[in-house]
Amino acid sequence: MANEFDDFEDFRENSHLYLDLIKESFQNKEAISNDRFDQIFDQKVRRVSSVHWTPVEVVLSILELLKLDQGSKVLDVGSGAGKFCLVGALNSKAHFFGVEQRQSLVKMANQLAEDFRITNASFIHADALKIDWADYDVIYLFNPYYENIMAAGLRIDLDIKVSHKKYKDYILATMNKLSQLKVGTQIVTYYGFGQGLPDNYKLTTSIVAGLSQIELWTKTSF
Ligand SMILES: C[S@@+](CC[C@H](N)C(=O)[O-])C[C@H]1O[C@@H](n2cnc3c(N)ncnc32)[C@H](O)[C@@H]1O
Repeated sequence: MANEFDDFEDFRENSHLYLDLIKESFQNKEAISNDRFDQIFDQKVRRVSSVHWTPVEVVLSILELLKLDQGSKVLDVGSGAGKFCLVGALNSKAHFFGVEQRQSLVKMANQLAEDFRITNASFIHADALKIDWADYDVIYLFNPYYENIMAAGLRIDLDIKVSHKKYKDYILATMNKLSQLKVGTQIVTYYGFGQGLPDNYKLTTSIVAGLSQIELWTKTSF
């Protein structure tokens, strides 16, 4: 089987200058287009970016809303190739944790964090519904389960089994998890996650971003 990272490995051999330029541009508050940022990914990951990965400007808007500090812990549920967490970590002192079901994407995201010399982003390979969400201040949901009901041609790849049942089960499990989180936990959604939040969450902010909305919710009671 062909190594899907061939392209990515080629890029990495010559990537350090490019990654330094991206870092510097963020530090200088220059606008970075998605095409430019996405050059850090291999071609397969880049191809699905406009549908599946959070645009740079959307991550920056979320950071402005959240006002994170060094101690803040953010969990990206379904972190993909790490775009949300990497852009977040390059523009804030908070720690970004990504959990992702596709091992190849986790490997790529961790490698990029290392190549960027980022110490405040890390990624694990797991089913997000099987890990504990209690320890995080912010949970980020960019419609993570939607691939289960998407046309095959729009999916990231065909490696993961999808079904309408999985979509419903994941949403139900997410609702259960959200209802058990500590008061004060913030949830950020982009394109929602398939259902409204439990009643003990209050919508704090809603802004138009990209082709959808960023919503910020806060848990108000147990
Ligand atoms: C829309 S993409 C968002 C990627 C990333 N959060 C970003 O904004 O760049 C959703 C991701 O969730 C992952 N995913 C879906 N269900 C999952 C689950 N149960 N556990 C872990 N990852 C999951 C998919 O593989 C996909 O990479």
